[in-house]
Amino acid sequence: MTIPLSVPSRAGHIAQPVALDGRVCVRPAVWRDRGVVRRIECACFGRARLLFGLWSRTDGRDAMVWLGEMDGTPAGYLVAYKKDLDGRPALYVGGVGVLKPFRKSGIGTCLMNAVFAEQYPVWLHVRASNMAAIALYRKLGMCERRRATGFYTNGEDALVMATPCEG
Ligand SMILES: CC(C)(COP(=O)(O)OP(=O)(O)OC[C@H]1O[C@@H](n2cnc3c(N)ncnc32)[C@H](O)[C@@H]1OP(=O)(O)O)[C@@H](O)C(=O)NCCC(=O)NCCS
Repeated sequence: MTIPLSVPSRAGHIAQPVALDGRVCVRPAVWRDRGVVRRIECACFGRARLLFGLWSRTDGRDAMVWLGEMDGTPAGYLVAYKKDLDGRPALYVGGVGVLKPFRKSGIGTCLMNAVFAEQYPVWLHVRASNMAAIALYRKLGMCERRRATGFYTNGEDALVMATPCEG
């Protein structure tokens, strides 16, 4: 299945369209993709994810995992699962990453659009210093809800970003 590049979500959020000439495909990952997803995850976030990767962390949480491909080559992943935001049902993005050679090609946008196509508001934590990711989320219409002080193990703050903004 190929996710369209711009998906009006049933949650009322409309992502920005991007033109990619059909080179990028985002599809739900299946169990046999777990090796490639884990490799992408480790390349983006470090080898600690080998032990604490998405498949183990999301066990039993009804996780949704998408794989992004450029011309058929695996290039990015996204994992999300149901987790309330301020007491309301929502989808939480537990991880999204694109391999360096494939960045700035619209794959991150397509992966996020796959989540927006689900029928829930979407939210996530992002490092306050991660300007690339923050720019991506802002461009897609997500807003900062609050700052989580010392959220990460190194003491760095996280921004909680969510859509729809007015919710
Ligand atoms: C954040 C990340 C997923 C973006 O993926 P991507 O495929 O490069 O994103 P896109 O090509 O769809 O970019 C869409 C928009 O995001 C913003 N953006 C992406 N990379 C950026 C960068 N390095 N600097 C500034 N803005 C950036 C831009 O607004 C861009 O639109 P533009 O190309 O018209 O300028 C990717 O940089 C990544 O994997 N980073 C490492 C892992 C990570 O930090 N994940 C997020 C954890 S919360």
